[in-house]
Amino acid sequence: MRHFLSVNQLRVEEIYSILETAEDYRNKPVNLNKQLFAANLFFEPSTRTKMSFIVAQRKLGLEILDFHSESSSVLKGESLYDTARTFESIGSNLLIVRHHSDSWFEELDDRISIPVINAGAGKEEHPTQCMLDLLTIYQEFGTIEGLKVVIVGDIKHSRVARSNAFALRKLGADVHLCAAPGFEDDELDFPYISIDEAVEICDVVILLRIQHERHLHKAETSDYLQLYGLTKERERKMKNQAIILHPAPINRGVEIDTDLVECGRSRIFKQMENGVFVRMAIMMTVLNEWGIINNENNFKACKTLAAN
Ligand code: NCD
Repeated sequence: MRHFLSVNQLRVEEIYSILETAEDYRNKPVNLNKQLFAANLFFEPSTRTKMSFIVAQRKLGLEILDFHSESSSVLKGESLYDTARTFESIGSNLLIVRHHSDSWFEELDDRISIPVINAGAGKEEHPTQCMLDLLTIYQEFGTIEGLKVVIVGDIKHSRVARSNAFALRKLGADVHLCAAPGFEDDELDFPYISIDEAVEICDVVILLRIQHERHLHKAETSDYLQLYGLTKERERKMKNQAIILHPAPINRGVEIDTDLVECGRSRIFKQMENGVFVRMAIMMTVLNEWGIINNENNFKACKTLAAN
């Protein structure tokens, strides 16, 4: 039985199966019609990921166990493992976890008997964001293979950069990175290009926020937009069909000119919309894979996974 921890763990056809299932859910309501509980264990701030999980859970008819680490027994020293085991014991059927540790799932992995979905692990992984980014790109171009994609920003401290770079490469995209000095990550084996080259050659530009909370010293940002960000002048040099993605939160005027946030080629709010359907598809896939639900007519993903 697999927890949903990284897009890396999925085969290419499993990735596409989840994307197709997400697309189905956009047009066709689906409800589990069964009392199942999902617990959202967010140990780090979140607006989009947490709220879109909640919308996705409500659409599926899941009962939500909300959790606020700042008013929980975590303040009394309770560990992530003991918190997760508590939710398992009181009847949760699914855990959604976001935690500042890069490898929090090692603490749970084989010791938890209900499925766990990774909603963010330190600077390492953000697989549900990655899946919604893949869906947004796939919707736009009908393929991911052969597309030139650049991920721009604080690569060194971004879990979105890591998850997306590996998944996009797995699906055949030509992935480049672009970072201000000090924001590169030598452990990532992808070519670096400048922002000026990136805007001219790429089909997809994925912008990232500077991850100040993971820096020892606050980075100076007064000239960041002009030197490394997406200015209006650079946007004009992008290819006709090229699109802009950003996982948000956005720091307007830092990594992107504020006027570009909702420009014609921005898919930033589309990404958020897609996040609900992708998270529905991911939850249905793991619940099915764990045998917690068994409703093949409701979604395609289960058929592919069951065939393995
Ligand atoms: C991202 C995250 O939390 O990693 N946000 C998100 O989930 N949409 C990106 C970020 O915080 O910069």
